[in-house]
Amino acid sequence: MLHRPARRLLARTHVLHYPFWSNESLLNAFDSSASATRVAARISTGALDRDHSPNGDRMGYHWPTPGKEKSWRQQTYSTGFRKVEALQQGMAEMVPHAVPMPSDIRHADLVVNRSDHLKAKPRLDPIELKFGAVYTDHMLQVSWKEGPGWTGPSIDPLAPLTLHPCAQVLHYGSGCFEGMKAYKGKDQRLRLFRPDMNMERLSQSAARLTLPEFDKVELLECIKELVRLERDWVPAEEGFSLYIRPALIGTHPFLGLSPTREAMLFVVLSPVGPYFPSGLKPVKLFVETEVVRAYPGGVGDKKVGGNYAPTMLPQLRSAHRGCAQVLYVLQDGLPGGGLVGESGAMNVFFLLQENGMMELITPPLDGLILPGVTRDTVLAIARGFGNIKVSERNLRFDEIEHAAETGRLVEIFGTGTACAVQPITGLLKNDNTEITIPFDSEAAAHWLAKPPGMALAQPGSNEPFSLCGRLTRTLIDFQYGYVESPWSVPIDP
Ligand SMILES: Cc1ncc(COP(=O)(O)O)c(C=O)c1O
Repeated sequence: MLHRPARRLLARTHVLHYPFWSNESLLNAFDSSASATRVAARISTGALDRDHSPNGDRMGYHWPTPGKEKSWRQQTYSTGFRKVEALQQGMAEMVPHAVPMPSDIRHADLVVNRSDHLKAKPRLDPIELKFGAVYTDHMLQVSWKEGPGWTGPSIDPLAPLTLHPCAQVLHYGSGCFEGMKAYKGKDQRLRLFRPDMNMERLSQSAARLTLPEFDKVELLECIKELVRLERDWVPAEEGFSLYIRPALIGTHPFLGLSPTREAMLFVVLSPVGPYFPSGLKPVKLFVETEVVRAYPGGVGDKKVGGNYAPTMLPQLRSAHRGCAQVLYVLQDGLPGGGLVGESGAMNVFFLLQENGMMELITPPLDGLILPGVTRDTVLAIARGFGNIKVSERNLRFDEIEHAAETGRLVEIFGTGTACAVQPITGLLKNDNTEITIPFDSEAAAHWLAKPPGMALAQPGSNEPFSLCGRLTRTLIDFQYGYVESPWSVPIDP
């Protein structure tokens, strides 16, 4: 077993990717100067080369095409979005004969430092367990520097971070994050739900902020390891889950505005209770037409911290008016009451009826909307139901009002990892008038009580209608693995 500094050092060296050498054997090689010289000789003659996918991603190493060999001194390597000269980093001074190169996050380098002081697990009461207020014992962390790239990842006891007061994230909001969950099914297996989408979104958010790229598959493997370690924090009860919060922040201590040169990625876990301890609970939204959450050319489609802090005030004002959240309606100067966007932390869906035909509408991914994992899933499930027209299209507020006035507004609900499907029964406007949408809690409860997989079947002619309830049941069946799907990714012990 390598000790941590050695692993980290090795993680930054070119030779680590040599297919016939494990990290351990490399370390041994460095113990013997003769072997080290042999390894270094191979590298310096260009025997090892980098392989690039068509889009420039790192793919590992291969023997170079004859005649195309380059000396390693002439090569540049991509670390994140930047190209750096290999020798620029000075790593050669630290490991003689080994060529430094920017390294990526790799699960094989993960070091686990278990906590000696495991916390007593709180009573995981569905009512008392507040979302995001309780954390597990460990966290995953890995840091990045322009040049050497990512260090080896580690799982450590949960602890405060040490940041320079001039760290970019503290001043310029150079930070992005994700929200995903692990679910424990009745079979005691833990499962992630479409985690590749979270990794992709984190990567897109990071790129927008000049935060470094990372290997999404490898990061996910490290996250799975953390979840495995903390598996006892999740009761095998439907509704409970383990909220996973990866965050990537710019830590470069520099007050000038410049692309990030140092960063840190960490992941913390928080057990959370059922979305609806006593069934689906509808909420009211405040129709926000003055504060703008996202605008064309902005970052509304990225999960960056800067999108959220400015929403606290409208959220607070809406709470004073008895609303749980805000519905952002952008006044874009066109007639029709403004462009319907999304809610503070949910995508929104509207079910309208026209000549006996149902249309489920959600705003399109035009840069103003966060591409929600749950949104995408609900769209796919609803399309699979077959008897509903499913549209991703612009919706102006007047259309909703008109549908409500003419009795054609059937349901409104929000979607998100935290809430799954959240029924909405009221839209409160600034002039205190309200659009109300009836919510049939009995019909919703009927669908929630369906045995696994049965909500997917076509409803019988006597069954009550609740799209909200039917979607929720179907989503839960997939998330907990009651219905097998490629969306559900088991984490085996
Ligand atoms: C602004 C916003 N919209 C929508 C969502 C829902 O996204 P997801 O379904 O991926 O959780 C979230 C939550 O992450 C959000 O913050």
